[in-house]
Amino acid sequence: MKRTLLFVLTLSGLSAVSTNIIKEYHYVSDSKTWADAQSYCRENFDDLATINNEDENVKLMSVSPSTARKAWIGLYDHFEAWKWALGDTDFNNGFSNWETDNPNVKHAPESCTKMTESGRWDDIQCFYQHHAVCYHEPGPTKYILVETLMNWHDAMAYCRFNYTDLVSVRNLSENNQISSLLSRGTWIGLHRKTWPYWSDKSPNIFTKWATNHPVSTTRTQQYCASVGTASGKWFDSGCGTTQHFFCQSFPPHQHEARFKLKFQSEADLNDPAVQQQILEQLHANLEKHGVADFKLRWTQTDGLTFHKEKKTKE
Ligand SMILES: *[C@@H]1O[C@H](CO)[C@@H](O)[C@H](O)[C@H]1NC(C)=O
Ligand SMILES: *[C@@H]1O[C@H](CO)[C@@H](O)[C@H](O)[C@H]1NC(C)=O
Repeated sequence: MKRTLLFVLTLSGLSAVSTNIIKEYHYVSDSKTWADAQSYCRENFDDLATINNEDENVKLMSVSPSTARKAWIGLYDHFEAWKWALGDTDFNNGFSNWETDNPNVKHAPESCTKMTESGRWDDIQCFYQHHAVCYHEPGPTKYILVETLMNWHDAMAYCRFNYTDLVSVRNLSENNQISSLLSRGTWIGLHRKTWPYWSDKSPNIFTKWATNHPVSTTRTQQYCASVGTASGKWFDSGCGTTQHFFCQSFPPHQHEARFKLKFQSEADLNDPAVQQQILEQLHANLEKHGVADFKLRWTQTDGLTFHKEKKTKE
């Protein structure tokens, strides 16, 4: 009975700790371009900092200097990250039928693809109004031309609501079938996602942009993200400017973690022999659950390891 109780406490204590210790942030007060900051972090830590949620943003701020400035984090806008709307699948240089010198809106914050009536592809900014070709999985007619003028995002919403999605084009035969429907430039499902990845290759699932960021004008160069060290809000700037930066690391050996264990026992818990016995049991339980390379010891408050708690309602 006592063993079971100990075992439960051990595991819940462990998981409470692991979410906090998993990543550490480091502020580096050296002015570097984003690419040089990335190299520095990769050499000295793990990578530039990735922030996946509000808690991590708060954690990053806790190592941030109090003076207000911008410091790089790992997020960058990748000009080559094209995806098909359908299934959010990577385009990865599969079949394509670009017009000569396309894609050419490389430096727009976002780009979308229209097919011309001759079947060639042209990347343009997504706010333009065009007809769309939806894909209708159940058939029998798979390709549906929608002759309503819409921006690319509205076209996608239209296709997703009324059919399956904006159309994907996987080979020349599909390209020919689709282009035979067209009498003017028409949206297809190919789209360049903005700010898709972090430096450590994790997908972008959380952002905390400052108002009016990222700046939505045509880019002249690659853009990268930084955090305002006083506000915790994010800004985009040309990756070639120099800033301080945040790195992250995953320490293989956590320095020290404290758990508070609570249990009932008939034995005198302040007897050193009993304490030693409990430690040994904890040790064995942790090892049994795959935890390696650790030391356990009791800490004391007011000269005692254990403190009696008043009975509260169960
Ligand atoms: C679905 O199609 C109808 C007309 O066929 C259109 O009015 C409606 O806006 C479409 N739905 C969406 C979400 O776009
Ligand atoms: C084109 O791709 C579709 C979907 O993958 C496939 O069903 C079809 O057989 C392909 N056609 C040719 C000619 O390769």
